[in-house]
Amino acid sequence: MITVKGDKTPLFILDTGHTTYAMKVLDTGHIEHLYYGRKIHLDSEDGLTEQHEFAPGTSVVYSPEHGNISLEDMRLEMSSYGKGDVREAFVEIVNTDGSRTSDLLYKGYAESKGRDGGTEGLPTSFGEDAEVLTVTLEDKDNHIRLELIYCVYSDTDVITRTSRLINDGDGDIRIRRLMSTQIDFDPGDYVFSTFTGAWAREMKRTDMSVASARLVNSSYTGNSSNRANPFVMLSSRGCTEDYGDVYGFNLVYSGNHYESVEKSPYGKVRFLSGINPTSFEWKLAKGESFLTPEAVMTYSSTGYNGMSGQMHDFVSKHILRGPWKDRLRPVLLNSWEASYFKISESKLMRLARKAKQVGIELFVMDDGWFGERNDDTTSLGDWFPDTAKLPGGLKGICDKVRALGLQFGIWVEPEMVSRESGLYLAHPEWAMEIPGKSHSEGRNQMVLDLANVEVQDHIINVMSRVFSSAEISYVKWDMNRNFSDVFSRSLPADRQGEVTHRYILGLYRVMKTLTEKFPDILFEGCASGGNRFDLGILSYFPQIWGSDDTDAAVRAEIQTGYSYGYPMSCVTAHVSDCPNHQTLRRTPIETRFNVASFGVLGYECNLVDMSKDDLDAVTAQIAMYKKWRKVMQFGRFYRRSSVNDSIGAPGFSCLEPLPGNDTSWTVVSADKSRAVSMTMQILTHPNAQWGVLKPMGLDEDTKYHIEGRKMKFDLREFGGLINYVAPIHVRQDSLQHRTIARFYKMKAESESHDMYGDAMMYAGVHLRSAFASGGYNENMRYYPDFGSRLYTIEKIDK
Ligand code: DGJ
Repeated sequence: MITVKGDKTPLFILDTGHTTYAMKVLDTGHIEHLYYGRKIHLDSEDGLTEQHEFAPGTSVVYSPEHGNISLEDMRLEMSSYGKGDVREAFVEIVNTDGSRTSDLLYKGYAESKGRDGGTEGLPTSFGEDAEVLTVTLEDKDNHIRLELIYCVYSDTDVITRTSRLINDGDGDIRIRRLMSTQIDFDPGDYVFSTFTGAWAREMKRTDMSVASARLVNSSYTGNSSNRANPFVMLSSRGCTEDYGDVYGFNLVYSGNHYESVEKSPYGKVRFLSGINPTSFEWKLAKGESFLTPEAVMTYSSTGYNGMSGQMHDFVSKHILRGPWKDRLRPVLLNSWEASYFKISESKLMRLARKAKQVGIELFVMDDGWFGERNDDTTSLGDWFPDTAKLPGGLKGICDKVRALGLQFGIWVEPEMVSRESGLYLAHPEWAMEIPGKSHSEGRNQMVLDLANVEVQDHIINVMSRVFSSAEISYVKWDMNRNFSDVFSRSLPADRQGEVTHRYILGLYRVMKTLTEKFPDILFEGCASGGNRFDLGILSYFPQIWGSDDTDAAVRAEIQTGYSYGYPMSCVTAHVSDCPNHQTLRRTPIETRFNVASFGVLGYECNLVDMSKDDLDAVTAQIAMYKKWRKVMQFGRFYRRSSVNDSIGAPGFSCLEPLPGNDTSWTVVSADKSRAVSMTMQILTHPNAQWGVLKPMGLDEDTKYHIEGRKMKFDLREFGGLINYVAPIHVRQDSLQHRTIARFYKMKAESESHDMYGDAMMYAGVHLRSAFASGGYNENMRYYPDFGSRLYTIEKIDK
């Protein structure tokens, strides 16, 4: 709800279900940020507005009439460069006369209702009930207007912010930076959490104390990047998964972004988020305006899980769109790690037949099907099937796969061109490179200049042809390099600072057109895994490939990282072969599934070469997932704080597990009648038999049946210990050993209890003893390195 009090210098109050955001226009015309946090009663600014009698020493006094005001020591809703606020600015403009000082003061406001999901080329959140407040400021000395646009989503406790700059003057001005949001917090002890990484190790949460310095999370790669995801958190020290104050921030944007936290000498803490100002410059001619991407903000007083729940709801309800938004996602098999570029129709069909046998629903042909693409040096841009590999073209293989009863999907990378390609020969000017200058490449490929409308149209036409050439149900849209040599031949010299942003606008136009034209295709975003995992992409594609790293141990951490800001229906995860192709690590096939099943499950392995035992395991996994996928893809997700709360052996001095050793997730259906919990450990703790599972998010008064997923293990995992039970001596790895293992499978302990929700969550489910060397029987929990369990929880009649 938006409440406005007062006329000339109004107080604006933005309430959601559980939060309040407030700001007040001051006599100077500046807007003071009063509060953002837990919902409070507010009918005036009394007691909330800061009281200033004298400007602090050596600070700039704003004006002779306001001798008490130094902008440097104020909580501002928006700050500009040049009038004494020496903290990082929200906006920096080069005026027509070359000066860089702006003094933007309150002019008026307007209210409206509803938001439709996109404006001026940018995707935004959407919702009929969204309440929109536009506050307009005008530069005192230049003909420039700034709109601060707030959008209130009461249902999900989210407020978004966007800004628009308008040139009302006669000459050109240049925008050097225009952020999307700014919040000046009161002094406090804050922790800034970012999700950083690199290829194959995305989304590592890092917590940094906010001290007297500026902390920056940004990308400069051309995309939102695996180096630093735009989702960040600011929390009060001591915040845990379940307790404490935390703000979550994100940006509906897929390009270079910037989030910073700065503690001023006066202790106030400024958060800024928006387009990365590095190398950015936008020329704004007379009458033109510039709109920033939308910043998303939420606050929770119930720790990180509370904040994540709000973000998940918001993304699910107000960002994801199209027919696939709430549709159950099929279990797929992707050909990449089974075949890489070495594909052929016959090889793929063998894979597809096996896929059908184990219960897969969608078969995806990854890279290598077009042009003459036998490695990554050629053919990007030549989007016609390689008939040497696919004699019947796309339609030929698609029809055959569909005849098996599977859906068919393909891989494309439309934003790129190989130097060795027909497209580059025909249109070298469409590739992003600086004419006459040396060029750097990534993965032997060049970025197409999507700032150029001609290139956008070309991609739309070519992809439309490909997508209509067969009954394609799914498209994996990849993007495999960071930008270099940024330049657009379609823009004049004084507009080259606009290229990276114009590229993203071009990309959005292409994505919007194609997703609207092919609404039934399930699109999956990908950028070498998670190099472009953001709300901009999610505005068009409902799911994104989380990481090329499918090692269950690494994946558990990566998926935990995504879970802070993104709902599980957006995160795709695959079971792959072992040793793992990224780490060469061996993890149990059941653990690979348990981790991948939290989200949108797929397989990316060579089913043709897979052992019978593993194929049996995969068949059982897929059958189980189909029964539970509604909960696993769309349920409410919770992380358990630490090993000490769940399974593990705390306090064992030198044997104490490393931080992050244990992962414990629970996902609960909207009506709380069904849930699934997962536990997983990296390294085992010796002689630690006990284990307690504490699921989360259940209904306290409901009685549930909890059951461990049935799994089977290979007897050989016990090595020479077999000789303590076998009547004969069995030599390890002998034919005898292998034969016994083939016919005798160790069954996972059976675990099943009927308990109330509160008993499970607060007292915990005390699990079967884990193996700890003293002996073994079928009631024991075999829980070695990389061990894991899935427990299904279902409401029962009392
Ligand atoms: C990078 C992706 O992340 C992989 O999954 C695969 O599709 C390759 N590209 C294909 O080139």
